[in-house]
Amino acid sequence: MTTTIAVLASQVADQIAAGEVVERPASVVKELIENALDAGASAVRIEIEDGGKSLIRVSDDGAGMSRPDAELALSRHATSKIREAADLIGVATFGFRGEALPAIASVSRFELETSSDGDLATRLRVTGGKREAVDDAARQRGTTVTVRGLFFNTPARRKFLRAQATETRAAVEVVTLLALTRPDVAFTLTSDDRPLIDVRPTARPIDRVHALWGRELADTLLPIVYREGPLEVRGFAQRPAQAKPAGRKGYVFVRGRPIRDPFILRAAEAGYRSTLAPGDRPSLILFLELPGDAVDVNVHPSKLEVRFRDKFFVEKVVEEAVRAALGPLAAAAPLGGVGDSWAGLGTSLPAGAPQELFGSESLAPGTQRLAPLLQVFDTYIVFQTDSGVAIVDQHAAHERVLYEQAMRQLTGDGASAQRLLLPLTLEFTAPELEAIDAHRELLRRVGYEVEPFSGRAVVVHTAPNPHPRFDAARCFGELVADLAGGRFGALANRLERFAATYACRAAIKAGQHLEPDEMRELVARLLTATLPAHDVHGRPTVVQLPKDELERRFGRS
Ligand SMILES: Nc1ncnc2c1ncn2[C@@H]1O[C@H](COP(=O)(O)OP(=O)(O)OP(=O)(O)O)[C@@H](O)[C@H]1O
Ligand SMILES: [Mg+2]
Repeated sequence: MTTTIAVLASQVADQIAAGEVVERPASVVKELIENALDAGASAVRIEIEDGGKSLIRVSDDGAGMSRPDAELALSRHATSKIREAADLIGVATFGFRGEALPAIASVSRFELETSSDGDLATRLRVTGGKREAVDDAARQRGTTVTVRGLFFNTPARRKFLRAQATETRAAVEVVTLLALTRPDVAFTLTSDDRPLIDVRPTARPIDRVHALWGRELADTLLPIVYREGPLEVRGFAQRPAQAKPAGRKGYVFVRGRPIRDPFILRAAEAGYRSTLAPGDRPSLILFLELPGDAVDVNVHPSKLEVRFRDKFFVEKVVEEAVRAALGPLAAAAPLGGVGDSWAGLGTSLPAGAPQELFGSESLAPGTQRLAPLLQVFDTYIVFQTDSGVAIVDQHAAHERVLYEQAMRQLTGDGASAQRLLLPLTLEFTAPELEAIDAHRELLRRVGYEVEPFSGRAVVVHTAPNPHPRFDAARCFGELVADLAGGRFGALANRLERFAATYACRAAIKAGQHLEPDEMRELVARLLTATLPAHDVHGRPTVVQLPKDELERRFGRS
């Protein structure tokens, strides 16, 4: 009897494995950099030619390998990183399968040069999975892997490679990702001898962001530092007012590994609720740290996905982390060409209770330390803070305050409304009457108690009283027109939409003169809001002119 089943030759098995691990030059770049980082490199140099199609070379100054180890490294399932399945839990190295090198070597002309002591080095050549030679070589401690002619022996796959520019872009992206996760390591990438990335080691992640993408991005980011239970979220969230509809950066790292997870990014965006302009997408860089047994990293052939034990919890905490980052008034955008705005963040504006700033005049008259407020153009309120000058847009600020108040009222019992001495009788169009009817309960909760009258008229018995010069009838009319016109479509949530519409219509307008007491009350309430730095359309409520910047401009520093 003949058998029809045969065990594949290891070379064939390697090639099949390569199909999962090595998709394109960028995947080779990724595996080789990960190996270098796992070997403790402090500098990694990457060279590619023709988008990596003709050459990929990754050199490191890591631990290197002895000759026997180097020979073993090219066998499938040979790894120094785990010994048994249990070691997979909480594995801290990028690699753990012992697949990458043999897979890459099976579909390329592969050369490995390595030395573990800087004395005797080994050069090992493999072509299409076939061992060609093992020689002595001379090099310092570390490893250089050179991969030529990727997929030369699998023409079908070589055909799938994209244009040089596309493959180069993918390689840049991989280097960028790994450079983000290890700011303490130097990275250089050259493509056909052109330097594309060159970043020095640094202790601060923001400096790495700056080095990779420049100040235009780095200066728009707010730090995220948040912990709940076993999960720590760090990273950067872009200021809402600086988010744009296109070209955002969205990166998620779990235990230092770059992963693709649209759900986590979406959860982070949910943290922006009510501060983003319609269509804007903020840049987000998120580093999640959690215990090894809370996440399975071995669920994807190129390790681009992980599985969380409690995904819901992770998403919830990420959302809260972003919300907390946008919280302090320091999240307000600085004015002009600010020096090192980063250094000043977090100290620029006191985010605490208004008492700190204003001596809580309204709470304890007579005992206050008052920062003088100045209204300019009947539109902005200017005052001094601990670290600079703040300029508040009175309409945007009031809108933010009223929005948060309205959200509390809409989700709670409602407002304590003021009964009107003379009820208002107002006329509306048929669609507007329908909108009033559909939103009757929400209107009541923000303070408007309404009753149908006759024909097209309704009677308004109570109204909110957000400020002394509030025009209850006009605000009601505008609110109803907005509701009927289906505007404010950008906010998904109906309550939010309603609260935003109400806040926009009820807020003090620009051009309205304010008395000192009114300004004080407005600023005090803004400083105790949850997201004080932004209005409900993604515009800032406050801009700040840091003292540093003044000193720089006047040559005092
Ligand atoms: N740049 C390097 N410096 C030092 N040792 C290396 C280097 N690259 C590979 N090695 C050694 O070779 C072994 C095999 O590498 P390979 O990438 O194939 O597998 P791995 O990293 O263990 O797992 P994975 O397949 O998940 O990447 C590693 O475990 C490591 O011991
Ligand atoms: Mg590896």
